[in-house]
Amino acid sequence: GRVVVLYGGDSAEREVSLVSGRAVLASLQRSGIDARGYDLAAGGLTGLEALAPDRVFIALHGRGGEDGTLQGALELLGIPYTGSGVLASALGMDKQRTKQLWHALALPTPQSITLHPEADWKAVVERLGLPLVVKPVHEGSTLGISIVDSPDALKSAYREAARFDAAVMAERFIAGEEYTVSLLGDDVLPAIRVEVPSGFYDYEAKYHSDETLYHIPCGLSVEDERDLARLCRQAFEALGCRGWGRVDVMRDDQGRFWLLEVNTVPGMTDHSLVPQAAAHAGFDFDALVLRILATSLA
Ligand code: DAL
Ligand code: MG
Repeated sequence: GRVVVLYGGDSAEREVSLVSGRAVLASLQRSGIDARGYDLAAGGLTGLEALAPDRVFIALHGRGGEDGTLQGALELLGIPYTGSGVLASALGMDKQRTKQLWHALALPTPQSITLHPEADWKAVVERLGLPLVVKPVHEGSTLGISIVDSPDALKSAYREAARFDAAVMAERFIAGEEYTVSLLGDDVLPAIRVEVPSGFYDYEAKYHSDETLYHIPCGLSVEDERDLARLCRQAFEALGCRGWGRVDVMRDDQGRFWLLEVNTVPGMTDHSLVPQAAAHAGFDFDALVLRILATSLA
């Protein structure tokens, strides 16, 4: 049957999605699959239905593609799709509710506060300490995120995040190392440690810089990597995620792990993390894409 790769869309991560989606499409075609690409911004669901897909490979990042709305529409249309379902997608797109759920299950995640224009900025700084992180609640690719190291910078960081989202949060900053763990079906792929010379793994470091270092093997002891894998599996399942995804984690100077977020449609560009983890686990991009596609029928 025909597979339609959905990409583009109109979220702030549109450009990333176009790159992810084209890479996925080319890969499926190399594997001899009847695959078509479709930019959801071009003609919406009507145009998608006209392509008569038997299955959809979701390569959309951000709102309107990764947040459960599309997943709900595909459920109603009766078209199988890759990755997480409606609820897990919606939760994964909401960093604040993700953390509240993890917290309720005693999974470690840095303390956070929802911000609003009349927030008591002083109280926020007192509670979370400095530096702290300000983020749009529903956004990806580090868009709108700032690390704040003085009370005066908090308000402008809030305004920057609010350009991307009506909901903004502040989170305690965890100094230490940054790890990411990819989940694929029942497997947890090797963890990657991300090292950024600038110190901040932002949009530039994610997609453009050649200076970002990706360490695989990540350098943890076997026991620590096993603990990290178990934690990420629990974090993924707490939200009801399925198929594939990626969990981002900090490790503090005492060696404790802190969950930051889950990505239910991780990037699939040539700089992206899941393809690198898969390669280290012994399967190339085409094999990875086929395994993700298989999650649409799970
Ligand atoms: N949101 C980007 C695409 C990622 O998590 O890889
Ligand atoms: Mg993300």
